[in-house]
Amino acid sequence: MIQPIDFSNRQNRFLSMTDVSDGYLNMIENKTKQDPYYPTYHVAPRHGLLNDPNGLSYYKGRHHIFYQWFPLGPVHGLKHWYHVSTKDFIHFEDHGVALYPDQNYDSHGCFSGSSFIEGEDLHLFYTGNQVSKDGQVNQNQVYASMDENLNVTKHGAITEAPAPQFTHNFRDPVVFKRDEVYYMLVGGETVHQQGALALYSGPSIHEMTYQGIVNTTMKNPGYMWECPNYFEEEDQGVLIFSPQGDLIKDKYNFNNVFSVVYAVGQPLDVDQLSFGGSEFIELDKGFDFYAPQTYQDEQGRRILIGWLGNSKSDYPTDSNMWAHMLTIPREITISGNRLLQHPIKELESLRTGRETLKKNHVLSSRAFEIEVSVDERFEMTFKNKDGESITFSSNGGEYCLDRSNMTHLFAERYGVKRYALRQNKESHRIRIFVDSSSIEIFCDNGQTIFTSRMFIADLSVVHSESVTGDLFCLGSITTHVETG
Ligand code: FRU
Repeated sequence: MIQPIDFSNRQNRFLSMTDVSDGYLNMIENKTKQDPYYPTYHVAPRHGLLNDPNGLSYYKGRHHIFYQWFPLGPVHGLKHWYHVSTKDFIHFEDHGVALYPDQNYDSHGCFSGSSFIEGEDLHLFYTGNQVSKDGQVNQNQVYASMDENLNVTKHGAITEAPAPQFTHNFRDPVVFKRDEVYYMLVGGETVHQQGALALYSGPSIHEMTYQGIVNTTMKNPGYMWECPNYFEEEDQGVLIFSPQGDLIKDKYNFNNVFSVVYAVGQPLDVDQLSFGGSEFIELDKGFDFYAPQTYQDEQGRRILIGWLGNSKSDYPTDSNMWAHMLTIPREITISGNRLLQHPIKELESLRTGRETLKKNHVLSSRAFEIEVSVDERFEMTFKNKDGESITFSSNGGEYCLDRSNMTHLFAERYGVKRYALRQNKESHRIRIFVDSSSIEIFCDNGQTIFTSRMFIADLSVVHSESVTGDLFCLGSITTHVETG
């Protein structure tokens, strides 16, 4: 019998697909497929580990989603970019691997990055992770492009060393253009072990030079900033990134191992190298959310997708050789200095049946959506016959997501409850999406979101107090695998 690879031997994390047999890949794919916790309407890896969404874009009539992928098991190993696309978020084309770590400058992983549309091509920017024989790490910012037939060409590294003032932790480029000038932000760790963003600019996509560190209003920088995302809308700039390190925690903020923050402000001042936004706010209050990206589609909507996971924790499904999924796509809008997030409209087409939510509602599917009005105080418990559960509730002043009573507990060292201050204390409508082992909760008209994994064996009942509304069973997304 083919055995799973032992990844506690770190060398094995750099094995590639050509080092294993087809039998091994079939074995891990079958294990993944039969896992009852595998989602039906979220993008998830066919085996192995998915992490950050990359290169999100609306290009040639389709939404293109790439993601970080280690094919051989549920660990952070040799990263590839996997590629899927869709017109409607229901029917997907599976294009397979778009970027393999096959060059010197990306020999130890095609790390995260973004895309930029210009001319006929989709321009891809990513970090080539390179480790020398003596263990020295270099993170190069690489430029590649994809044409309309989805052929990808790598053009090489545009920065082969971290900018001055930065350590080798220097990655996840995002590019934007203003007044004929191209700009690139790169996340990094300064030589003083603080998180920061480097700004590059130049006259063309592949000729950008280092300008300096961007000043921001972030009070507590942590030690490294990953996955910056920046966009401008109606004379405002929005900066999102994922800081690593201990931020100043309180009951309501920054309780995950690493969090995601955003600020809305004046557009980035590229001459003064400063982004004077509002204070940085945590983008999601759940346990499992990281490294989101946004992009604009043809209707002008700004869409956000994140990694529905978090690093540094083992997940119960690791034994089935897969890990993580992407969040559902969310439309985001700016309201004052806040971002509002709403599930994208297309997801309504997943609804297969509508049921009035009963006090003890017996589930016919583990993929469903709940749309309800909640009172000032309310409670909803998602449970199985043995009473194992996850509970979302409010006492009027705050919300609480409590996962202390699940069948499979994990990452408990980061706590088992998450709280958020309630912004809308009146009765209002909230939406909850459950997909086998994930829950995404949208409250306060999109201002307060909780995104989490949940592991309850044979989830069968939703018990609720002081909520009224509907439950919709949700169908699956379909994936058509491209051949040839
Ligand atoms: C964030 C991250 C990025 C990096 C990628 C590697 O989760 O650490 O900074 O590019 O994952 O997979």
